[in-house]
Amino acid sequence: MNAGILGVGKYVPEKVLTNQDLEEIVDTNDEWIRTRTGIEERRIADDHTDSSDMAYEAAVEALKHANIKAEELDMILVATVTPDHPFPSVSCMLQERLGAKKAAAMDVSAACAGFMYGVITAKQFIESNAYKYVLVVGTEKLSKVTDWNDRNTAVLFGDGAGAVVMGKVSEGRGILSFELGADGTGGKHLYQDEYIIMNGREVFKFAVRQMADSSVHVIEQAGLTKDDVDFLIPHQANIRIMEASRQRLALPEEKMAKTIRKYGNTSSASIPIAMAEELQAGKIKDDDVVVMVGFGGGLTWGAICMRWGR
Ligand code: COA
Repeated sequence: MNAGILGVGKYVPEKVLTNQDLEEIVDTNDEWIRTRTGIEERRIADDHTDSSDMAYEAAVEALKHANIKAEELDMILVATVTPDHPFPSVSCMLQERLGAKKAAAMDVSAACAGFMYGVITAKQFIESNAYKYVLVVGTEKLSKVTDWNDRNTAVLFGDGAGAVVMGKVSEGRGILSFELGADGTGGKHLYQDEYIIMNGREVFKFAVRQMADSSVHVIEQAGLTKDDVDFLIPHQANIRIMEASRQRLALPEEKMAKTIRKYGNTSSASIPIAMAEELQAGKIKDDDVVVMVGFGGGLTWGAICMRWGR
């Protein structure tokens, strides 16, 4: 039996920062941001809310949805590049707050592909029968590492968290195939010094190719074809990158998760936030073939093909 997703949750801060608000902060405009990125607004966490706080809210929702108690968790994996502190890890902070006493805990650092790395790590522990239930969270407070004077990056990012509870699911369902990858030679194109520094064009070219290629690879690995895919959840970085993947899979528009308009790029949180939202909207149903695909700084990437349902 495969590992799969038992429950999903998300949290986004209340404060909305619109493109119009950004016009007051940097030399940019709503028209440019909308047409080049697909983003209209993003959420920004307040001074009292850090990555662990958002992770907690998303995790509570995911546990409730999975109908599993925190004490039952064997492991907590938190994907983040914006931890509250270098250590203790966000996962340890979360373990305490949830009261997940028996859970091992560690953070995963693979930037925007972090959630994919986390889910695939969890799958290994579950399918080897080492652990029964693993909580995987993507959480980011990117606003604290965003240079609000740099229009190249300030318009792109937002804060938020998404979480899944994973465990074994019924025969034929769960994770069917995956691909993880990294190319450290591209690290210079997207990194954090004090703030995020990005060569947008280089990242764009890499992302368009990688997202589409990885999606095709996992579909083939699962023994399926593009026609079998019911729903695509791409990392929400730029609508044009997402559209390139969708077109490569020849999927109609309504079969792709699209939360970028409201939340911008929330890095490791983007895929689970989109998953939670589209699931709630009834766009993902039991036995649907779902492809998730992400890329990020590192450079890193990951894709998963799964059959939805417990
Ligand atoms: N507002 C207005 N104008 C802007 C701007 C902004 N926020 N940012 C850049 N511009 C200008 C540039 O200065 C440039 O002007 P010029 O032609 O006079 O030099 C022009 O817009 C085009 O810039 P360019 O960088 O070629 O735009 P683009 O179409 O490549 O879009 C990104 C820029 C960043 C949106 C795009 O490259 C991208 O999304 N890259 C991937 C980024 C990403 O996904 N990062 C996260 C990875 S997890």
